Amino acid sequence: KQILLLNGPNLNLLGAREPDIYGTFTLEDIERTVNEVAQKKGYNVTSVQSNHEGNLIDEIQGATGKYEGIIFNPAAYTHTSVALLDAILAIEVPVIEVHISNIHQRDSFRRQSLIASACVGQIVGLGLYGYKLATEALIEEIIPKRQ
Ligand code: DQA
Repeated sequence: KQILLLNGPNLNLLGAREPDIYGTFTLEDIERTVNEVAQKKGYNVTSVQSNHEGNLIDEIQGATGKYEGIIFNPAAYTHTSVALLDAILAIEVPVIEVHISNIHQRDSFRRQSLIASACVGQIVGLGLYGYKLATEALIEEIIPKRQ
């Protein structure tokens, strides 16, 4: 049983990147947190971070038959990418959208998520804890209800 943790551009810089907005935890901390929660519930996690939109699309397209759910922070592509929206619409695998910061509290262009309508849910503004919640929700609520 596998889950995909997918993080978009600049999230490899977490820890050093705008810590007042994104906190001081790192991508590794996210991976460890998601892994811990998932493993306790019998799931393995594959973690992919990419700065390239096409790589993210390839991961989503490849998810069918491989993963039971996806935790996805598309970072800046959230606000720009119809291609990511279409990729999510093309698969049956449930996707939970996560943002570390509260995107509704920031620049107006961050308020809109182009992928939100294709996701089962969205978690914003809860930092590292949002990833933990997304993992629990996928495994305890979303995946079982689909089977
Ligand atoms: C982000 C919010 C986006 O607006 C921003 O471009 C990011 C990170 C978040 O997790 O808060 O890179 O997705």
